[in-house]
Amino acid sequence: MKNRFLKIATYSLAILGAWSCKPSADKTASSSFLAGDAAEKVYVKPGTHDEFYNIVSGGFNGQLSVVGLPSGRTLKIIPVFSQFAESGWGYSEETKPMLNTSHGFVPWDDSHHVALSTTKSEHDGRWAFINGNNTPRIARVSLSTFRTEEIIEIPNSGGNHSSPFVTANTEYAVAGTRFSVPPDNKADVPISSFKQNFKGYISFVSIDKTSGRMGIKFQLKTPGVSYDLARAGKGKSAGWFFFSTYNTEQANSLLEVNASQKDKDFILAVNWKKAEEYLAQGKGKKEPAKYAHNVYSEETHSATSTIINEVMTLDPKECPDLLYFMPCPKSPHGCDVDPTGQYIVGSGKLAAVIPVFSFDKMLKAIANKTYDGNFDGIPVLKYDAVLHGEVKKPGLGPLHTEFDGRGNAITSFFVSSELVKWNIEKLEVVDRVPTFYSVGHLSIPGGPTAKPWGKYVVAYNKITKDRYLPTGPELAQSAQLYDISGDKMKLLLDFPTIGEPHYAESIPASLIEKNNKKIFKLEENKHPYVAKGEKETKVVRKGKEVHVYMTSIRSHFSPDNIEGIKLGDVVYFHLTNLEQDWDVPHGFAVRGALNAEILVMPGETSTLKWVPTKVGVTPMYCTDFCSALHQEMQGYIRVSPAGSNVPLTWGTGKNNPSAEAEKNVAKK
Ligand code: CUA
Repeated sequence: MKNRFLKIATYSLAILGAWSCKPSADKTASSSFLAGDAAEKVYVKPGTHDEFYNIVSGGFNGQLSVVGLPSGRTLKIIPVFSQFAESGWGYSEETKPMLNTSHGFVPWDDSHHVALSTTKSEHDGRWAFINGNNTPRIARVSLSTFRTEEIIEIPNSGGNHSSPFVTANTEYAVAGTRFSVPPDNKADVPISSFKQNFKGYISFVSIDKTSGRMGIKFQLKTPGVSYDLARAGKGKSAGWFFFSTYNTEQANSLLEVNASQKDKDFILAVNWKKAEEYLAQGKGKKEPAKYAHNVYSEETHSATSTIINEVMTLDPKECPDLLYFMPCPKSPHGCDVDPTGQYIVGSGKLAAVIPVFSFDKMLKAIANKTYDGNFDGIPVLKYDAVLHGEVKKPGLGPLHTEFDGRGNAITSFFVSSELVKWNIEKLEVVDRVPTFYSVGHLSIPGGPTAKPWGKYVVAYNKITKDRYLPTGPELAQSAQLYDISGDKMKLLLDFPTIGEPHYAESIPASLIEKNNKKIFKLEENKHPYVAKGEKETKVVRKGKEVHVYMTSIRSHFSPDNIEGIKLGDVVYFHLTNLEQDWDVPHGFAVRGALNAEILVMPGETSTLKWVPTKVGVTPMYCTDFCSALHQEMQGYIRVSPAGSNVPLTWGTGKNNPSAEAEKNVAKK
């Protein structure tokens, strides 16, 4: 382990030596490994709260996690695109529709980028958005319940990577396709016809100001390239959106070679305000498409899934002055806009410089038509005409850039494994610090907004190696917290993460804590199978379906004895948690159920479906340690053979009438 560490450290120093603009950098490197007062800076006293919420994508686990900063403590996993047995997400009848798509029920996705809602490009603490990469989707998560409220599928798209970044006032979240594809309704074409038939669809998903309700407002049919990342403009550039592209070679095979041919790819600038004008003028065309829109209602505690069959599209060929390409070296990944909205930073994975574009210069180049030809009909602006300047020799493999609010940018470097701070105006490197190891995304609280909170940067590293106790072939992904309040960045803390975080955002706890939802009010519960008190509990047979209107309260279920269920029945346990206190969920599980438990919050109703497979008496119980008598929170369900004449009976705290009934049957 030690050898490995030394090797990496030496490697990092070599990189520092080779790439630093300041010869003193290698001297600062050893001291920047760990700040002397690091422990004090990340120590959150027992019983006290963290200063920031860190909302982190889970990558291939399809979820979000919530982490406190600076402690690095994991507070919660929010299930989004993947079923989550711990809470019954995607298993309960109410949440299954959330995972519906045009392909059917898809219980997993690859979630990459977090976008927190903003007003005037500043965090407003209302929602978190996250993309599903694999089966293209965008989800909206409430930051008062920390639950997924809505998922919308994106048609005409493959690999929804360039997503779900939001505009200044959260008017839109975007979805740029990573894999260009032929339109869904004309999709049976030869792969080799890429250049003719494949399109790079970019979706603008509108977000209702009050409810947050999403809808695909329009899709731009752009040339078939790969969209990688994006950022909205801010301030003067707020009416624009910027997307990084690769594979402008339009290769359809062996992309590692064929998509790295050109010296420059593009950053696409989209004038979305102009797109709205074209739509208002009726320039949009409705095209057939099929996608799911899933909404969870806090009133009914249930989700509905609607399949939509058309989408509004805008063809840039019929809408001039909408799109412009800015050449960007070389296979750009990150595309980040500084807090003022003036500078757009491209991070070419294979480039030796960081190009910084100027929004003012871009407007001027557009006005003067300073073009370098066009790409599939879209004007290409001259590189020199739009360039603010290049950061020279910043490091190897720049990926992502965020801003500290003090005139500096911090860029992550995958290949040289470091964070590099540079001055935006002067384009000069001012500090660099190694990461362990191979950093991907980075996150500064408020770093992508007009008002960075600064203070920390978190590096999300792709390789962990020797940082933690080994846990077999797979190691926990690693995050590292650095203090950026001074001139020099200082490593404070390593902490493991859940899944493989791609992006994350951090927001002051004060913006979220005050809106936290503690319970659902029982009197507002409009679930069709709610029982608002034990008197309303009952068991109803509808043919082969049996509906149990059930309640839980410390520490019993009502009913807790049920008889008269028969093989061939489908039983729905609709459990209402009668508690009205914060932090008193009850769980519910039945032996042999082919799904999971359900975990029901105070005032909520949730449904577990159970198809009994065996004759006999089946226990059911509460899975959440709710009280001193939690262990006693249990009951029995009797399952009889198909065609049995055991009557349907139920109760709590008394013998079932069925016992008497059967005695009578026996007597006769
Ligand atoms: Cu209810 Cu344990």
